[in-house]
Amino acid sequence: MGATGETDGLETFYAEALAAIGKAATSEELERLRVLYAGRKSELARIMGTLASMTPEEKRTFGARANRIKADIESTLTARAAALSQTQATAGPAIDITLPATPEAPGHRHPLDIVAAKALEVFKKLGFKYLEGPEIESDERNFTALNIEPAHPARDMHDTLYIKDQPNLLLRTHTTPLQTYLMRAVEPPYRVVTYGKVFRCEAVDATHLPVFHQIDAFFVDHKASMADLKSTLETWAAELFGAKTKIRFRPSYFPFTEPSCEVEVACFLCHGQGCPTCKRSGWIELLGAGLIHPNVLEHNGQDPKKWKGFAFGMGVERVAMTLWGIPDIRLFYENDLDFLEQFNA
Ligand code: FA5
Repeated sequence: MGATGETDGLETFYAEALAAIGKAATSEELERLRVLYAGRKSELARIMGTLASMTPEEKRTFGARANRIKADIESTLTARAAALSQTQATAGPAIDITLPATPEAPGHRHPLDIVAAKALEVFKKLGFKYLEGPEIESDERNFTALNIEPAHPARDMHDTLYIKDQPNLLLRTHTTPLQTYLMRAVEPPYRVVTYGKVFRCEAVDATHLPVFHQIDAFFVDHKASMADLKSTLETWAAELFGAKTKIRFRPSYFPFTEPSCEVEVACFLCHGQGCPTCKRSGWIELLGAGLIHPNVLEHNGQDPKKWKGFAFGMGVERVAMTLWGIPDIRLFYENDLDFLEQFNA
């Protein structure tokens, strides 16, 4: 193309650039125009590249004109940038009301909170009333009043955290001491359920934590049998996990119940085959249970000839693992949002 054609092209380019720069409404848009009209790959750069093939006369007139236009565009860009920053400083950042709103990400309940509420709801339907006890407990209520005398070897089953310089105070190792509050305050009958944190000096693994949650329930009336206990727990498990979930009762020992049993649920990961989560047994222990020991009623002021009861205490994290097939208890406490957000119910 000869010098005339490029001159025409230059005029058009110049007019277009000035108009666009004058209309730029944001510094981002202005930056885009700077690249388009004054950048290394712009039309202006291309036109200036054609100077080399022109005659000396053309070079002089066309070159001078192209240089002036380049300088003009650059100073127009600078002036527009100054004007924009002035407007933004006085008017605040430009708001484009046509942009979609930033989605709100409201918090939601922790999975353990959700599972505890579900589990407690079933007990509520079965007629249990909700009560809470303190996390700092006396040695007497946590142990002695539950038929665990000071020298009782069962104290070793719970690796207890005592309060410094307060040998009679400890962080409760289970939620069972709530029984002592009721028994000392009011006559049965009772149908009570509680929920809260418990503390044990324990090593962490896929099913154990040093701080975890328990739900404890107890029933006291003129009559209570292992059959009542079993049907209550079977109804609860079927409601929460579905009727097909297999649970089993195994004889066990707790000083505060006699007879005692443990309830296990078929491992949700291996379905009874044996895997690391269930320690190759095929079953995961959910809870301890039994008929309330007469010594517990007596120690806490109730007549064991008149009253009978059953009680049980379960690990809420284990219930949550069973309900959702979670292979490792530690996931509940790692605060990994990818994990937690799956429970946004
Ligand atoms: C007790 O704590 C008894 N108080 C339960 C009880 C209440 C028995 C009333 C009879 C009558 P145990 O130590 O087994 O028992 O704990 C109860 C449940 O808590 C266990 O079945 C298990 O589900 C859970 N659990 C126990 N230790 C841990 C731990 N370190 N981490 C997570 N869950 C645990």
